[in-house]
Amino acid sequence: MNLHPVGQFPAYRPRRMRQSSALRRLVSETQLNVAQLVLPLFVRNGRKVRRPIAAMPGVFQLSSDELVRDATRAHELGVPAVLLFGIPDTKDAKASGAYAANGIMQQTVRRLKKELPELLVITDVCLCEYMEHGHCGIVHYDKAGGRILNDPTLKLLARAAASHAEAGADIVAPSDMMDGRIGAIRSALDAAGHSETPILSYAAKYASAYFGPFREAAESTPRSGDRRGYQMDAANGDEAIREAMLDIEEGADAILVKPAGPYLDIVHRVKVATRYPVGAYQVSGEYAMICAAAERGWLDRDRVMMESLAGIRRAGADFIITYFAIEAARRLRDGQD
Ligand code: PBG
Ligand code: ZN
Repeated sequence: MNLHPVGQFPAYRPRRMRQSSALRRLVSETQLNVAQLVLPLFVRNGRKVRRPIAAMPGVFQLSSDELVRDATRAHELGVPAVLLFGIPDTKDAKASGAYAANGIMQQTVRRLKKELPELLVITDVCLCEYMEHGHCGIVHYDKAGGRILNDPTLKLLARAAASHAEAGADIVAPSDMMDGRIGAIRSALDAAGHSETPILSYAAKYASAYFGPFREAAESTPRSGDRRGYQMDAANGDEAIREAMLDIEEGADAILVKPAGPYLDIVHRVKVATRYPVGAYQVSGEYAMICAAAERGWLDRDRVMMESLAGIRRAGADFIITYFAIEAARRLRDGQD
């Protein structure tokens, strides 16, 4: 007769692995470590600003003083890196704020690197937050509507990436999905004396409704149209592998898959196909769903948080960008999972 203990993993499993709880720890196939978590942060101008984002409880638009406080908290808990998004005061048709030497991103990177030199600063390289129309590239409007001009956009992205590196960014992470951007950014970084700055490419970025809450956070909702012209179709998996391979050829040092939860097969396949470092971005909508269900008492927030992160790791992600980074770090510290 098999006796299954209630409330714990069994000490003994007939016909499976003999697992004393000590052995369970020893043979656990997946580890989630605080060193694999990256915290996204949104910065805007001002002092003592902490503006809540409706669909992302616990996430804020922060002025840089407040941002340093949150980054310090993360750093003290052992979170090794933050991913920065800038929200400029003004937007225009050529995203000037994205590559201004004294733009919101550049200022914040300098401040973070000064106050927390050991914390890795990853910068999101994109134009949507800085464009008046909210698209990730230059838009040409004609009778047929609007078109994204791929190649002219590359120059601006390259300038933005170089300006981030100049300010002290440790890693740049282009999220725009224009063709050829990795090569353009690599050349610009090299030319500016930043050949040591790695590129973390959002190679597999799907046109996803899970980005909804982020657009409020980053104030980057496209004024018209959507991003299906340059982001990937949820139906396609092989295409993600091709995108990853292309980006690696152009000089990407690590690959990101985004969103994470609904695309775990892609995380796995990209890891297996490339054998490159792969990160997964548990995006705003994934975070919002867990928070909303937990607020209603329908899900156990902490347990679902840890389970979702374990699943992303098990799929093959080397690291995870998540709005839960601080909370998960706390739980890991307290040994609750
Ligand atoms: C835009 C960008 C997006 C996210 C990261 N960078 C949104 C988009 O493409 O609309 C989404 C992140 C999230 O939802 O948490 N370059
Ligand atoms: Zn964008």
